[in-house]
Amino acid sequence: MKILRRADEVAEWSEAYRTAALSVGFVPTLGGLHEGHLSLVRQARLECDRVVVSIYLNPAQFDSASDLDHYPANLEADLDACREVGADIVLVGERTDFLPEGFESWVFVEDLVRKLCGTGRPGHFKGVCTVVTQLFHVVRPHRAYFGSKDFQQAKVVSKMAEELLFDIEIRLLPTVRSADGLAMSSRNERLTEVQRAASTVIWESLQAARELITGGETSVDVVRESLAGIFDKTGSCELEYAEVLAAETLRDFPDGVLNLDGEGVLVALAARFGDVRLIDNIQVTATDASGRMEEAELEIDGGN
Ligand code: PAJ
Repeated sequence: MKILRRADEVAEWSEAYRTAALSVGFVPTLGGLHEGHLSLVRQARLECDRVVVSIYLNPAQFDSASDLDHYPANLEADLDACREVGADIVLVGERTDFLPEGFESWVFVEDLVRKLCGTGRPGHFKGVCTVVTQLFHVVRPHRAYFGSKDFQQAKVVSKMAEELLFDIEIRLLPTVRSADGLAMSSRNERLTEVQRAASTVIWESLQAARELITGGETSVDVVRESLAGIFDKTGSCELEYAEVLAAETLRDFPDGVLNLDGEGVLVALAARFGDVRLIDNIQVTATDASGRMEEAELEIDGGN
């Protein structure tokens, strides 16, 4: 595995791979790697001839200096993990790389950032899109891998890649969770024991929302109130947002009546446990709802 600290070296390797007709998969990360990140690298390993991982704690996407400063970083452990899952190249960026003094060429996506994390974190997606654009130019991958845990980010990057004519397939992979349902996140390790125990409210409330929707509830307000109600009962945290949106467009459902057409319903939330902000989401589709109806029918048949 090559550990490269300069973008031009990575670009040279990528060029050599392309010349040799080898496909390149790319997994951009902020570091602090866990099973969620590694699941992306493993999938890239399965689908591509060469796999590039970047570890770059992008200052432009952090809205709080304290979040940036406390972001877990352990480069040696990250490199070991990358080696273990078979990455070919790891690009290790320094904070000042990519965004030097006087930088002013930002990339942003307009509509998809109006909701969810775009509201509470102004400028966040502009920071993500700009750095991902730079990394795409350096790595020139055939495929780039993103996790559903950051569903909005994956949507924003897909839109950007499509509209700015990057010839890159954006692969969206499922959220990897701990046994109790908490989505893996680098920030989890900053939770106190009490906060970690309370954090199961996230998965519990998302599951309750799924139950409601697959059970036939169509009112966005009812689903949001159920989520908020479950959070109200839990101490140690504060719900920042709980949204029920059309998964395809990240827009509100007209008249607050949800439907499961197309990509279905996105239920997404952000919550603060002390100064640790966690996000999570689920997608509910027509297939989930019909599966639930079949189960109910089986139960009825079984009862006869
Ligand atoms: P980071 O938070 O390090 O995440 C890197 C990738 O790992 C993202 O695509 C994210 O969605 C995915 N990921 C994180 N936790 C996951 C989980 N539990 N299951 C599955 N995938 C998970 O997202 C970023 O970095 C940055 O914004 C970046 C894209 C690198 C741009 O700076």
